[in-house]
Amino acid sequence: MPRDPVTISLTTFEESTHMDVGAPSPFSSDVTHSTLSEPTEQPTMDALVIRGGRKLSGRVEISGAKNAALPVMAATLLAPGVHTLRNVPLLSDTRTMARVLEQLGARVEFRGHACKIDTSRIMSFEAPYDLVRTMRASIYVLGPLLARFGAARVSLPGGCAWGPRPVNLHLEGLKAMGAALEIEHGYIAGKDVELHGADISFENVSVGATAQLMMAATLASGTTVLDNVALEPDVTVLGQVLIGCGARIEGLGSRRLTIHGVRELHPVDTTIIPDRIEAATLLAAGAITGGSITLEQCDAGHLAAVMHHLEDAGCDVLPGNGEVTLSGPTRPSALEITTAPFPGFPTDMQAQMMALCSIADGVSAITDTIYLDRFTHVPELQRLGAQIELKGNTALIRGVDRLQGAPVMATDIRASAALVIAALIAEGETRISRIYHLDRGYEQLEQKLRSLGADIERISE
Ligand code: EPZ
Repeated sequence: MPRDPVTISLTTFEESTHMDVGAPSPFSSDVTHSTLSEPTEQPTMDALVIRGGRKLSGRVEISGAKNAALPVMAATLLAPGVHTLRNVPLLSDTRTMARVLEQLGARVEFRGHACKIDTSRIMSFEAPYDLVRTMRASIYVLGPLLARFGAARVSLPGGCAWGPRPVNLHLEGLKAMGAALEIEHGYIAGKDVELHGADISFENVSVGATAQLMMAATLASGTTVLDNVALEPDVTVLGQVLIGCGARIEGLGSRRLTIHGVRELHPVDTTIIPDRIEAATLLAAGAITGGSITLEQCDAGHLAAVMHHLEDAGCDVLPGNGEVTLSGPTRPSALEITTAPFPGFPTDMQAQMMALCSIADGVSAITDTIYLDRFTHVPELQRLGAQIELKGNTALIRGVDRLQGAPVMATDIRASAALVIAALIAEGETRISRIYHLDRGYEQLEQKLRSLGADIERISE
C-alpha cells in the first residue's frame, strides 16, 4: 500500500568536510573528568572587561564545533558501546549534554578534548527539565531513545532569550514515523514505540528537525525520505558519523535524504569539525580592529557566505589549507545582509556583523529570515553608541565614527560575542556581564583574543 507523504511546516508541526570515522578505542584508566558527581552547572557571574583600541594580529586555533558536537554526542545513544569523540569543545553546553547522557545511564569521560561515551548500559529514558531548560539541544536525545528503546520522556525545551523556539517539526516528523507522543506535565513522552519509515517534506528548513529525524530513521523499520533538509555542515557530518556507525543514508549534502533503517549500529571513533561560527566571529573581530589575523584548524569551505560579506566590507580574506587569513580595512564599508539556511549567511553571525556595521561608512541593513526577533543585542549595542533602527526583522545600522565603552549585558551566545567585538574598538572600558552565555558557545574566547593583542580580562562580579 503506497505511503502518504507528509509535509510538515512551521505552522501545522554535499560536498562538505569529510569526518574521520573509525573503530573506537576502550576507556583509559586515568580518567580526567566525569560530570556525574557535579550538580547542575550554576552559571558563573563572571564579566569581561575590555579596553578598546588595539588592532588584533597573529594566529589563533579554532576549536571543535558546538553545533556538530551536540548532535553527535546524542547520536551515541543509537549504538551500544564505547564511542570516542575527538576535538570536542570544552563548553558548558557540551558538559550539559554529557550530564543528560549520564542521567540516562551513559558513562562520559573527558580527556582533554577527547570524550569517551559508553552507552552500553542505558537505564533511564528521561531527560529532566533542569538540564533541558539550560540547553535546547538536549532534545536531540528524543529520536535516538525512541529509535533504540521505543521509549522516551524528554522535557519540552521552552523558549530562548529572543523568543519562542517550537519543536513541532521534530514531533510531527516522529509522529509520521509512528511515534505516539504525548505532552504531559511539560514532557514529551512516548512508550512502546516502533518507528517505521515515512516520506517527510519540510516546508521550512530546520537544522534540529533534520538531525532528529535522520537519527531516528537509522533504526526505523523500512525507508525514510526526508525532503528539503538542512545542509549545515553540522548536519552533513552527523550523517557521516551515523554512516560510520553502520547506518544506511543516501543523499548527504543534498536537500533530500533517503535513510534505510538497519537493525543495529556500532560505536565509532570520530573527530568533531572546526567551529565555523567561532571562526567567523574571530574574523569579524579582526575586521573591526583593522587588524591582520590568521585562523588555524578551520575550514574555509564552511565560511564562504561570511567571507564574501567581509570582502564587501573592505577586508582582504585569504582562504588556505585549513586556515584563513584576514586583513581588515581602515574603516569597513556598509553592508546589506540577509540570513538564510546554509550555504546562505548564518543567523548565528547576524549580531556579530551588526557590531561591525555599527562603525561602517554608511547605512547597513541586516535582515534575519530564520529568527524574526533575534535582536536582543540591539539595545546593548546602542548603549555603546551604535545607531540602530529596527523595522520588523530588519535592522538599519547607521555607521558612527566611534563607539564608547559602557557597562552592557549579554543575553545569548551570539549577542555576547557581538558585544565583545564592539568593545574591541569602543573608546575606554566596556564591561560585559552575564558572560555565562558566551561560555556556552565559545571556548576560551578571551584567551584567544588576548593572544591576538586584545586588552581583555575576565573578572568575577
Ligand atoms: C540550530 O538551532 C542551531 N543550534 C542554532 O544555533 C542556529 O541558530 C539554528 O540552527 C539555525 O541555523 C544548534 O545547532 C544546537 P532550526 P535549531 O530548527 O536546530 C523554526 C547558536 O547560537 N522551527 O534550524 O533550533 C525555528 O524557530 C544556536 O549556536 C520551528 O518552527 O534551528 C527557526 O525559526 C542558536 N519548529 C527555524 O525553524 C521546529 O520544530 C530554524 O530553526 C524547529 C524549528
